[in-house]
Amino acid sequence: MELEGRAAVVTGGGSGIGRALCEHLAAAGCAVAAVDVDGDAARATAAAVVGAGGRAVALACDVRDEVQVRATVAAAEAAHGPVDVCCSNAGVAIGGGPDAPDAEWARAWQTNLLAHVYAVRAVLPGMLERGEGYLVHTASAAGLLTQIGDLPYSVTKHAVVGLAEWLAITYGDAGIRVSCVCPQYVRTGMTTGGATAPRSRPVMTGDQMHAVADVLEPDDVARAVLAAIATEEFLVLPHPEVLEYFRRKASDYDRWIGGMRRLQGRLRGTPPS
Ligand SMILES: NC(=O)c1ccc[n+]([C@@H]2O[C@H](COP(=O)([O-])OP(=O)(O)OC[C@H]3O[C@@H](n4cnc5c(N)ncnc54)[C@H](O)[C@@H]3O)[C@@H](O)[C@H]2O)c1
Repeated sequence: MELEGRAAVVTGGGSGIGRALCEHLAAAGCAVAAVDVDGDAARATAAAVVGAGGRAVALACDVRDEVQVRATVAAAEAAHGPVDVCCSNAGVAIGGGPDAPDAEWARAWQTNLLAHVYAVRAVLPGMLERGEGYLVHTASAAGLLTQIGDLPYSVTKHAVVGLAEWLAITYGDAGIRVSCVCPQYVRTGMTTGGATAPRSRPVMTGDQMHAVADVLEPDDVARAVLAAIATEEFLVLPHPEVLEYFRRKASDYDRWIGGMRRLQGRLRGTPPS
């Protein structure tokens, strides 16, 4: 999709990858709505976009609440016209295994999956009427592989990949394009702590992340997303090596699980039994 003159909405736009998406989409000619539960952070993103000569509004919204999501899409459309590009990007890392409290499981499901469904419900009818639209879903490499130390995150990110696949298949003939963003580690509040830490906590130390992958900057991810939108490509892999890991998993699941157990052992300093 050509981005010049389009209207975009980005959830989680107040920080990290979402903020970079707002900046890059605006630089490509989109009018952007930066949406975040942290209204101050959304306003800071919008101010930075406007300061750089772009068009942006800030909208405070808890994406776990469908009523707020609908009102936010309506406000974005009132400001910039029909939403052409909808980036469901807000997400949280919870940490823990099956024993994570139900409230934390619910928070992961609501933020990492259901919020994407709410956004699609709000923007898809208009896109179908117009015969075009772009849905960008930020999943994670954890949605194709796994996230050691975070079961709720791994499960909900697999679900986002499933959602994005289904949408791409079901609505592709109706002119809807979908990209699914699957990075490994990126230097944001989610991985380093900081302003977003009350909602999302790092599950790995910096050394552990570096042992697994290069740690990218949010700008790297935004560049990869814009490149994928330009070519209308589904799978966005800012860490290209993830494709090889995904292939290895598909070609020999048991061998892949063995490799992941060894990696987990190395990260925890204990060899697998
Ligand atoms: N950082 C990484 O290494 C990494 C890797 C793969 C995927 N991701 C994904 O990228 C996306 C963006 O994360 P990030 O790394 O930029 O983290 P981040 O913590 O910097 O940004 C997430 C933003 O989402 C917002 N948010 C959280 N809950 C919300 C809610 N209920 N309503 C509205 N906004 C909410 C936060 O306030 C924050 O501004 C997430 O979906 C994350 O899972 C991150």
